[in-house]
This record gives sequence, structure tokens and C-alpha cells, in this order.
Amino acid sequence: MPASKGLGDGMAVEQNDLLRYANMQKSVYNPVGKDNPEEIVGWYGYHENVPYETNLLYRYGDIRRPIFPDFQKLRAFDIGCGEGRMIRRMQRIFGQVDGADISEAMVEHARARSPNSEIYVSSGLDAGQAPSDTYDFAYCTISLQHVCVHATRDAILDDIVRILKPDGKMTLQMLFSKYYPFHHPRRIRQLGRWGLQLFNKDSNNGTWFQNKTDAQGTNGRCDVVIGTNELTAVRADLLKKFGVVEFWFYDISIDRAGARSLPENHLNSHIDDQYWGTHFVFIHCAEPRKG
Ligand SMILES: C[S@@+](CC[C@H](N)C(=O)[O-])C[C@H]1O[C@@H](n2cnc3c(N)ncnc32)[C@H](O)[C@@H]1O
Repeated sequence: MPASKGLGDGMAVEQNDLLRYANMQKSVYNPVGKDNPEEIVGWYGYHENVPYETNLLYRYGDIRRPIFPDFQKLRAFDIGCGEGRMIRRMQRIFGQVDGADISEAMVEHARARSPNSEIYVSSGLDAGQAPSDTYDFAYCTISLQHVCVHATRDAILDDIVRILKPDGKMTLQMLFSKYYPFHHPRRIRQLGRWGLQLFNKDSNNGTWFQNKTDAQGTNGRCDVVIGTNELTAVRADLLKKFGVVEFWFYDISIDRAGARSLPENHLNSHIDDQYWGTHFVFIHCAEPRKG
């Protein structure tokens, strides 16, 4: 890893800042859910009801369009696997599922819960000691969306290119808001016959290219959100590492259980009234550019 990592937008991030961010992440993630590791997931029941498999493995979430003709003999890798929730789910589909996580505590839980999997401790900037040119597929769910540092995600994805086979593929679940950068709506004040409503711009989270290495929190405290206007630039960024980059979306602005649909000027989702995400975006990449 060079002392500073040059980015496409001309910014450079010092290695020290990346390490400081990784240390902050470790100090947050290691204690969470030590005794009850499901806590690391947050909204465990909600996430267990999201059809991640369909969206990670089928183009546009359409079961007629699998990204591989057959999954059974293939080897998959979970980026930021936590206690291994998605490793267990993906084991029903793939021949072998391995993974890595920055939290040693989570790696211990994942190893105990999936003894047939190889689970590596990541430095926060890589896939740990996972072997090169080995995996047919790499994926992440609710992990890279919490990394508000482009250079950190960039380093991890470089290492994913290393561990993928030359014909390997990857799908990342990330957060998307149709309207990001989001403006939080405040309550309407009545001024005579006028209604006045103020909106304040979200500064808590980061855009795809930001490097918020000084973030004091993660896992919902400072996430990365992709907005409609950023999609072209995100694709161009990932095309540096992969020959093919595609997007598809899973709508979280409609409450499936209660059939609640929210008005456009209150751009929140069924997770919470103040939540700004409207979709999960599934970023699918193929043809890793090796060497
Ligand atoms: C909300 S949990 C999700 C766990 C799992 N992916 C799931 O879907 O249940 C986020 C996980 O990402 C891991 N993580 C965060 N940043 C990471 C990084 N830079 N490198 C590796 N793992 C990371 C955390 O330790 C944590 O276990």
C-alpha cells in the first residue's frame, strides 16, 4: 500500500488517515454484540427478510437471469461478513463460502457458526489472507455501505480483484437515495396564511467519492449514500477495476408489511420516518482487471 493513495478526483488520502479510520471501525465493531453477535447487524429481523440472494445473484433480481448458469460448485467470498448471517444463507447455494471481517470478535463468532468456511481477519483495507485467483464470486451486504471513506473501499476492492478468478464476478449491496444529497424535512410552521417548511442538508453521511477519515462513528452513524446524479461517476470509477459494471435496485421506500407508501417530499423509507434511503442498489461487476 503506498503512503498516500491517489484518487480519481485528484484528492490524496494519507495512509495514516486510513489506518486511523480502520482503528476507529475496529473499536466500534469489536465490542458490539460480543455476547449477542446478531446485534452487529442491527434490524436483524428486517435484514433476514430482505431477499439478498435474489438481488446478489440474479440480474435485476429476476430469477430468469442468474449471473452464473450453476452455483453449486462455485466458491463465494463475503466482504465484511460479521457473525456470518449471509455466509450461512449463501452456503445453501454455493459449494463453499468464505469471508473476512475487520472485527476479530465477529470473525470468532463466524468461525464457530460456519466451521466449514475459511474466515479471515481483515486489516480494514483488504480481504485478509484470502488466497489469490480463487473465488468465482464476491459479495457484500450492509458492510461497505457503512464505510464512508472512498480510499478504504477502493483498497478493499483492489484486493477483491486479487482474490477473484479471472472470470470471477462481484455484487455489492449499497445504499441509494433517489434524491441524495438528502434534505431532512422539518415540521411545517404556520406564518399567517403561509406554511413554512425548512429542510436541512444531510451532512452525517458521505457521497461515493468522499473520504470522511475523521468520522467518529460507523454502522449507521456515518454511511455512504449513492444518489441518482452520482451513478455515472460511480460506474466510471468501478470500470477502472472491472470490464463490466451494472446496477439494479431494490425499493425500500414502500413498506412491504404495512403497504405504506410515502409522499415524495418526505423522502424516507419504511425502516424509519427519518431514514433517507429509498433503495438498496446492487452493483454488479464482472471481468476483473487483473495485473
Ligand atoms: C452491519 S454488519 C453486517 C454484517 C454482515 N455483512 C451481514 O450482512 O450480516 C457490518 C460488518 O462489516 C464489518 N466491516 C466494516 N468495515 C469493514 C472493513 N473496512 N473491512 C472489513 N470488514 C468491515 C464490520 O466489522 C461488521 O461485522
